[in-house]
Amino acid sequence: MISLYELSRIMRPDDANIVGNVHGGTILKMIEEAGCIIGTRHCNTQRGTCFSGSDVDNDRCLAALARVEHTDFLYPMFIGEVAHVSAEITYTSKHSVEVQVNVLSENIVTGAKKLTNKATLWYVPLSLQNVAKIIEVPPIEYSSPEREEAGKKRYEAQKLERLETKERNGEVITHVSLPEPYTVGFSQSSLIHLVCPSDCTLHGFVHGGVTMKLMDEVAGIVAARHCKTNIVTASVDAINFHRKIKKGCVITVSGRMTFTSNKSIEIEVFVDADPLVEAEKGKYRAATAFFTYISLDVDNKPLPVPPLKVEGEEEQKRFEEGKARYLQNKAKRLADKEQQQ
Ligand code: COA
Repeated sequence: MISLYELSRIMRPDDANIVGNVHGGTILKMIEEAGCIIGTRHCNTQRGTCFSGSDVDNDRCLAALARVEHTDFLYPMFIGEVAHVSAEITYTSKHSVEVQVNVLSENIVTGAKKLTNKATLWYVPLSLQNVAKIIEVPPIEYSSPEREEAGKKRYEAQKLERLETKERNGEVITHVSLPEPYTVGFSQSSLIHLVCPSDCTLHGFVHGGVTMKLMDEVAGIVAARHCKTNIVTASVDAINFHRKIKKGCVITVSGRMTFTSNKSIEIEVFVDADPLVEAEKGKYRAATAFFTYISLDVDNKPLPVPPLKVEGEEEQKRFEEGKARYLQNKAKRLADKEQQQ
């Protein structure tokens, strides 16, 4: 059984953000690549051992990214360092695979290593013959019943949480004329991207990592417009990828600020797909997420951020929701730290 995968790559100048560190989106893309490789391998290497039905043995599949759990960026990674990305399958349900990915940075001159990211991703295997068909996942063997039980709990918790996030999908970002500085309208930004073959999997649909990189790019623009300083990604809240995005679609990735604490800002990002060729299918929302950014001074130290000027009830409601997420994430980080000590 193959349940571990590792990749290493030296970080080059084209992986840098404007501060000169490795771009958060590049890290998200590497994490997703590792998850996709191990997930796809797992779902294809055990054909015939645990499947019932006659046609499945020849039906190869590709693992599509369905969800990424909350991810913290623990330390910056620098250009010239080596990123070691290791992925492990930690749970399988009937139709989904949970992959844990750790990212270590290695300074190959001093030998210093740091854990920069830990991420949990969920993949769903889709048939190569028919992308609408979800294939059964071969079960993994767990090292203990407790591990299996813990995995099942995580699986059930994310299933519940998914039901809630679907409700936010109808929201749109509207244009504001002559917005005042520090308001939501002032920093909100969008980018438009034509989905090309280089963005796509063998199925001809966008790789989750490509989408996450674009989301991080827009969120970074919003953060920099608000703060007018260098900024870095601190964390990404859980993202669900409800719909596939086909080659040839135009995607609009939009971001707006929802909340500021003393030294962090939260940005909500929407991904909307527009199938140009099959126009009758209409535009649709493919994903949404919350990114948290930190503003940095010239020595890369966190700076206080200008408070968000909230206008109207809707913005106030989003601000309060952002505050609740901020407090929840902060409490969880503290609890994790205490557990490690
Ligand atoms: N996160 C984790 N697992 C998910 C999920 C999500 N957001 N959505 C569905 N699943 C799992 C379900 O739990 C189920 O597994 P189970 O039977 O073991 O519980 C399995 O997927 C099938 O669920 P179902 O409700 O039948 O499927 P669906 O119609 O919701 O389709 C996807 C699921 C993932 C195929 C569909 O949402 C999709 O195509 N998403 C886009 C994938 C993609 O293109 N990713 C890259 C985006 S840029």
